[in-house]
Amino acid sequence: MTNDECFALKCSARGDELRNVINKELKKYLPKKGKLAKAMRYSVFAGGKRFRPILCLLTAKALGKNYKKVLPIACAIEMLHTFTLIHDDLPAMDNSNYRRGKLTCHKKFDEATAILAGDALNTLAFDVLAKETKNPLVVSEIADALMKVVVGQVMDIESEGKKVNLKQLKTIHQNKTAALLIACVRASALQLKASSNQLRALTQYAGHLGLAFQIADDILDVTSTKKQLGKPVKADLKKGFPYLMGVEKSKKMAEIERKKAIKALNIFGNKAMFLREIASYVIKREK
Ligand code: IPE
Ligand code: IPE
Ligand code: MG
Ligand code: MG
Ligand code: MG
Repeated sequence: MTNDECFALKCSARGDELRNVINKELKKYLPKKGKLAKAMRYSVFAGGKRFRPILCLLTAKALGKNYKKVLPIACAIEMLHTFTLIHDDLPAMDNSNYRRGKLTCHKKFDEATAILAGDALNTLAFDVLAKETKNPLVVSEIADALMKVVVGQVMDIESEGKKVNLKQLKTIHQNKTAALLIACVRASALQLKASSNQLRALTQYAGHLGLAFQIADDILDVTSTKKQLGKPVKADLKKGFPYLMGVEKSKKMAEIERKKAIKALNIFGNKAMFLREIASYVIKREK
């Protein structure tokens, strides 16, 4: 067995176990009755990778704590992520018809329902965070990150049709994608009373991980298929990393970020094994 196969096996078994825990918990929080609830559930359970909630649970592991303590944070962040995807797909933004292998929320229902399902997921997420964590530091950490996602989306839209340089593109990716990944590790670590050294290391890790994650997304947009990704390809052709520097150089950039992410985990020793694994997964992933 090659190293790559071994990695894939380990990661998928572990991933399935964690995804099941997360999905079970998410089902508890989401409303059940009415059209709005139907639209919220449709998008949340359409089959996302659950990368952000898994990141929360693995942060707890790296800190030597029981991951159950950060499950509400993991679920709230997945609701927020799904909200940003529903709105990202709207005609006013990326105008996508396909997400997570299914019709997008506005195509399955209608635009007003999709906007409102996003609003409701946003509101519900903060309700869960406030009630379950009872920790204003955690709530504001995630609110700040979500504000960065929104600002990143504004920059992303404004960059359309313009020639952006590497620094500008990195800033967009840091806001629209890395900020929420940083919030996963920081909010979990804050809830678990991590030390300032641990918090600093995790922040460094997730910043690089986030950049690698979005570079990989840009590469897949160019190299993969709609069937494989479950969403349209060549949607960000004129604004991603490959547009700026080509696919091969983009892959090298993602690898540099992966290495930096892994280096930041030194202080955790073996406990961060899974965080290291998902940094490799991020750049090897096929969807
Ligand atoms: C898509 O996120 C949006 C980006 C920030 C690139 P994911 O690739 O995590 O999408 P899902 O949650 O698996 O659908
Ligand atoms: C969106 O980035 C990031 C969000 C904050 C939702 P993209 O527009 O590249 O995400 P995909 O490719 O549609 O998933
Ligand atoms: Mg977009
Ligand atoms: Mg998009
Ligand atoms: Mg994309």
